[in-house]
Formats: sequence, C-alpha cells, structure tokens
Amino acid sequence: MASSIPATIRSVNQDVPAPTLTLQTRPTPVPNFDAGEHLIRVHTTALCAGELIWHTYVTFKKEETVPGPDMAGTVVSAPPSSPFKPGDQVYARIPYSRPGAARDYTIALTSELARKPANLSWEEAATVPLSALTAWQALFEQSGVWTGPEDARVKGKRVAVTAASGSVGMWVCQIAKVAGFEAIVGTCGDGNEEFVLSKGATEIVNYRKKSLTEWAAEKEGRKVDLVIDCFGGKSLTDAWGCVKDGGVLVSMVGSPEDAKPAGLEVKDVKSHFFIMEPKGDQLQRITGLVEQGKCTPLLDSVFPLEGFQEATDKVEGRHAKGKVVLKVC
Ligand SMILES: NC(=O)c1ccc[n+]([C@@H]2O[C@H](COP(=O)([O-])OP(=O)(O)OC[C@H]3O[C@@H](n4cnc5c(N)ncnc54)[C@H](OP(=O)(O)O)[C@@H]3O)[C@@H](O)[C@H]2O)c1
Repeated sequence: MASSIPATIRSVNQDVPAPTLTLQTRPTPVPNFDAGEHLIRVHTTALCAGELIWHTYVTFKKEETVPGPDMAGTVVSAPPSSPFKPGDQVYARIPYSRPGAARDYTIALTSELARKPANLSWEEAATVPLSALTAWQALFEQSGVWTGPEDARVKGKRVAVTAASGSVGMWVCQIAKVAGFEAIVGTCGDGNEEFVLSKGATEIVNYRKKSLTEWAAEKEGRKVDLVIDCFGGKSLTDAWGCVKDGGVLVSMVGSPEDAKPAGLEVKDVKSHFFIMEPKGDQLQRITGLVEQGKCTPLLDSVFPLEGFQEATDKVEGRHAKGKVVLKVC
C-alpha cells in the first residue's frame, strides 16, 4: 500500500442487529484488483432512511456493517483495466453486501462507478446514486413495461408515486418528467405540494387529507398505469385503489400483496417488492441528466463524520427535505 495511505481509518460501524452506531478505528480496506475493486478516498456519503434494518431483508452475513450506501470520492487506486484512474472524481451506490462509505476510505467496483457530475459539489453528489438509481429502476426495469426515458411508449401513460417529497420520490417525479409521462401523481404532506410540483409532478395528493384510493374514486380516468410506492404501510395499502386493471404496482419498502386491502377486486395487476441494484452505466446516464440541468439533487443538511448520530436521527425522522450527508474529508 502506498505510504500516503494510512494503515487505519475512521469508520462508523453498526452493531447489527442493534441499530447502535459507533465511530471506530479500523484497518484501511485493501482492494482486490482482480475482482474489479477500486480504493476510494471518500469525500461525502449520504445516509438512507431505514438502512439500519436492511439486515432483516437479507440472508447473507457480513464481516462489518458500515452505513452510507451513497459515496462520492476520488479514486486512489484502480485495476489496470479499469476506465477509472487514480485522481478521477467518481460516485456510486455501494451495495448493502459490502461496507458503505461512512468511513475515510471505501471500496467500489468498476460496474458500480460513474463520473461525478461536474456541476455538483461533493455534498450534492452524494445525494444522488441510491435515490436516483432506485427511481430509474422502478420506472424502467421494475415496471416491466418501459425501457428508458427515450421509450416513446410512455406517451399517454400515468404514474403515481407515494412519498413524492422524499429522496427517492422526487427523483421518480424528475425522471418521469424527462421521459414524458402524461401524468405524474405525487403524494406528500402539508407544505410540500409546491416542491413536488416543481420536481415534475402534474397532480398532488396530500396523504394527510386523502388516500390515493379516495382520490382515484373521485373522478373517472384518474387511475394510473404504474404506482411506485416509497413508503410502505398504509401508503402502500391505499395505493392499490388507484392502479388501472392491467397496471403495475411496485414497492421498494414492503410486499404489495401483504398490504392489499381485503376484498379489493383488481384485474391483471402485477405487483412486487424490489431491491435496487448498483449500476454504474445507469448512474452515468443520470450524471448526464444532472449536467444538462434536467434533474437536480436535493440536499437537506451536512454533518461532519463525527455527527453521524444526529444525522441518523434526522434521516429516521422521515421528514428531511432531501438527503442528509456526512462530510468525511
Ligand atoms: N428497496 C430498495 O432498493 C430501496 C432503495 C432506496 C430506498 N428504499 C426505501 O425507500 C424508502 C424511501 O426512502 P427515501 O430516502 O425516499 O426516504 P425519505 O426521503 O426519508 O422519505 C421521506 C418522505 O416520506 C414522506 N412521509 C413521511 N411520513 C409519511 C406517511 N405517513 N405516509 C406517506 N409518506 C410519508 C415524507 O413526506 P412529507 O414530508 O411531505 O410529509 C417525506 O417526504 C425508505 O424506506 C428506504 O429504506 C428502498
């Protein structure tokens, strides 16, 4: 290891299964170039709501759990065949199967990396990968219908998203607008209506006043082709009543079948829970949308690495306006 790379680093570690986080001194990770691994000096990372219970969704065991699925940083060392070279400014979503980026150095694979948008600060860049990729995959992979923002078949189609004022939801609105969906229906709470409309939603439903089911029942033609649920629980149950026959309902939080209202009659609705996958090629396309000004990130607040607990509490309060970022170096 080069002499400028320290032998140990600061690392926020989770004491799984407890949600307890502690700042520890750990050995600096060593990349395996044969496996496509790059050593990254982390500048910023973003936390994700709910990540402290993600271990309940997976079957594998990990050596250590470090939060921070979003990473923005500089390549320190790279496999010789990698398109990413030392000094490159990059960002990525680090998969849950490996330690995240709430530490001084982390590891990212060629297949996960993309170039950091040139027009974003390090703090803004860390807000993008997980949320934007999840939104992209919900619209263009998990829907099972459309293949990308250039797919002309979105013409005349309607999509609804729950928690549209949240980090993933606002990316769904923005990317759906780029793609040209006819209607983008977003749910949000008091005071966030204008914000969600500014991100591309064409209609708003305040979930504190009305459910999506009630809203759809008010007027003929309001049902949608695709619902993307970003909140689970009652939001997911309420979403069932606004999907058209033959439509699709996907949730990134819980099983739609488990949340289906008893006795509800729907015809040919496909539904499933999904977990996004880190994909550098998709993230590179998102970089393009950001650099063209078609999509913008949303940064709630920035904490130093040592402020990890306060930052986590803010994220888990579930009303942050955008991502909460840890500044690592
Ligand atoms: N499966 C996957 O691969 C995957 C990937 C990414 C994220 N996720 C999960 O997706 C969820 C969303 O993540 P996120 O980062 O977008 O979260 P977030 O930014 O914390 O979401 C906050 C939003 O939730 C809304 N909200 C709060 N209480 C609500 C309620 N009772 N009903 C409806 N909406 C409510 C808030 O709306 P107002 O402030 O307007 O009231 C707020 O805008 C999290 O559970 C996360 O773990 C899963």
